[in-house]
Amino acid sequence: MQKYNRSTAKTFEKCFRRSQIMNLPKYYEYSCNVKTLAGHNVLEQIPEELKALESNRPLILSSRTISRSGLLDIIENNYHEDMSTGALDTDIPPDSCLNTVSRLAELYRSNDCDSIVAIGGGSVLDTAKAVNILVSEGGNDLIKYSGAGALKKKLKPLILIPTTSGTGSEATIVSVISDIENQRKLLFLSPFLLPDVAVLDSRVTLSLPPALTAQTAMDAMTHAIEAYIGTGKNPMSDSNAFEAVQLIAKNIVNVVKNPQDQDGRLALAVASNMAGMAFSNSMVGIIHTLGHSIGAVSHISHGVCMSVLLPLGLEYNLHKRRKEIGELLLPIAGDKVFSETPEKERAEKTIEYIRKMNKELYEITNGAHAYNFKDYTWKDGTKPFKVEDIPLTAQTALNDGSVFYNPEEISYEEAVTVLEAAYTGEKLDLSKIKKGHQR
Ligand SMILES: [Fe+2]
Repeated sequence: MQKYNRSTAKTFEKCFRRSQIMNLPKYYEYSCNVKTLAGHNVLEQIPEELKALESNRPLILSSRTISRSGLLDIIENNYHEDMSTGALDTDIPPDSCLNTVSRLAELYRSNDCDSIVAIGGGSVLDTAKAVNILVSEGGNDLIKYSGAGALKKKLKPLILIPTTSGTGSEATIVSVISDIENQRKLLFLSPFLLPDVAVLDSRVTLSLPPALTAQTAMDAMTHAIEAYIGTGKNPMSDSNAFEAVQLIAKNIVNVVKNPQDQDGRLALAVASNMAGMAFSNSMVGIIHTLGHSIGAVSHISHGVCMSVLLPLGLEYNLHKRRKEIGELLLPIAGDKVFSETPEKERAEKTIEYIRKMNKELYEITNGAHAYNFKDYTWKDGTKPFKVEDIPLTAQTALNDGSVFYNPEEISYEEAVTVLEAAYTGEKLDLSKIKKGHQR
């Protein structure tokens, strides 16, 4: 993720270190101008939001499962008299590409749509953001808007409804689209990609299977924690991150055990949204750096990678972020454990709690959740990540944009060390990490 370059990231790190006494950076950027509706029955309010945005003919983007579930009917049954769905598409692949975005932009134009409503997982929401670029800017050349800051003005009205509590895409300035022809992922970064309205309705996540619920929530937890310990941390993202960690820690196990727990579902959706706001402004670090490359090399889902790597990424940064990792014990374990743990032991205790959480989720999901890659297999018995994949994965990781935002720099050898520990599920050997032995 390349919002700034390496030297800007280093400046952030220096500013952060200089100002630790005040706990304030000398400079930071934060933006998240999104109206957020959260509750058990908020889909009904979408037509009212469309009216406020002076729209009455939305393009609706979703999945076939959502379309069959009746959730879209809730929106359409509440349309005002002059409103109608301009067009509906439920054929968005999990890894959306340039062709899909072009096709949907054409659908928008040929049906005289005036806004976009997207209800789905991360890919559907990212696709909606990218379609909004084309229908607002005109033309069909999406590539020229990739990177940071290419958009200069507000886009068409956009309402996003996440159906997984993980990516936080409804609160981020980011969209990722595949360029299949050139075998690369295109990153779009701009505050103009934020939706006008984000809708968090507990009903839309009720059918998410337990293992997927665990993975996506651990992805959101990782967004919050990497934002809280990262080089771009600031008071605004810290408060979002801290609350997100607390909501996830309190609810993740209950919701995975009881998928129909509506209050718990809403808590995870809100947490994912807040974690999205946090990392959209503070960025992510080594856990995402390595997670992206494992995903690219072995095609393991992002949430599984996050679950396995989270404790290791914290151990990797322990010598630079002991204080912050220790602070996270409060939202993760509660005030009793926090107050009974001596300050110098809190960081290790935080990591211990995350490992315990992963093991509990592994047991509840009968092994579908992961805490290492050695024992992780797909349903057909395939073992997607093997020891021999480690060198290529480590090499790939060094080209990931998020590598700049980790508090400690990462060498090839260190990436290999972390990946070896991720494979076995053992603790990180800190003697192999630069200054890792320092307390
Ligand atoms: Fe993530």
